[in-house]
Amino acid sequence: MEYIISPSILAADFGHLAREAEAVEKAGARYLHLDVMDGHFVPSISFGLPLIASLRKQSSLIFDVHLMISDPDRYLEAFARAGADVITVHAEAAPHLDRTLAAIHGLGLKAGVALNPATPLSVLDWILPQADMVLLMTVNPGFGGQQYLDYCDEKIKALREMVSVRGLHTDIEVDGGIHLGNLERVLAAGANVIVAGSAVFGADPEGQARAFMKILRKQAEEA
Ligand code: DX5
Ligand code: ZN
Repeated sequence: MEYIISPSILAADFGHLAREAEAVEKAGARYLHLDVMDGHFVPSISFGLPLIASLRKQSSLIFDVHLMISDPDRYLEAFARAGADVITVHAEAAPHLDRTLAAIHGLGLKAGVALNPATPLSVLDWILPQADMVLLMTVNPGFGGQQYLDYCDEKIKALREMVSVRGLHTDIEVDGGIHLGNLERVLAAGANVIVAGSAVFGADPEGQARAFMKILRKQAEEA
């Protein structure tokens, strides 16, 4: 299994985004997590298509686009054109997940399904094989800098079990409140794609990303 850090630019300095992306790339990160919020599915508004398209010209990182928006189907093609490599939609916002994931794959991209903390894993029962990744929110989506919800340990474990019992290789991404102090805990529970916003971009992104990568490398050796 691959262990990946996906630094979230939500906590980065928006005046110098290209430089911030470069810092984590220099540290060895391959993914960049882009949190799109519409002020409807979640309370806050973050950024959208033009920003991603601009950053695409400046960065060759894998763009891991997390759509916290209502009716994501309307925008899949536009996000693909803007430069997304992975598009993750929320199960709570996409009632026709089968069609949505097929549309993302049809655009030549990887497809993820995100679940809010309170959403049961059972919504994945029939769709899991179609998802390249499941993103488990470990805070209520909408803001960076919140505290990890403890009960998510059990949810991550249950999803890892569900994935392995079915002989799948689905990535499990965790998002919200992850820092160096609880990283090993979510890895032990079964997560392998780690989003970190404030923990990386709060101060010294390159150094923080390196510190995350060191633990991820250790985990990969031990696994
Ligand atoms: C929250 C976003 C997260 C956010 C995480 O709704 O989906 O990706 O950037 O930020 P931290 O790591 O600060 O909790
Ligand atoms: Zn996110």
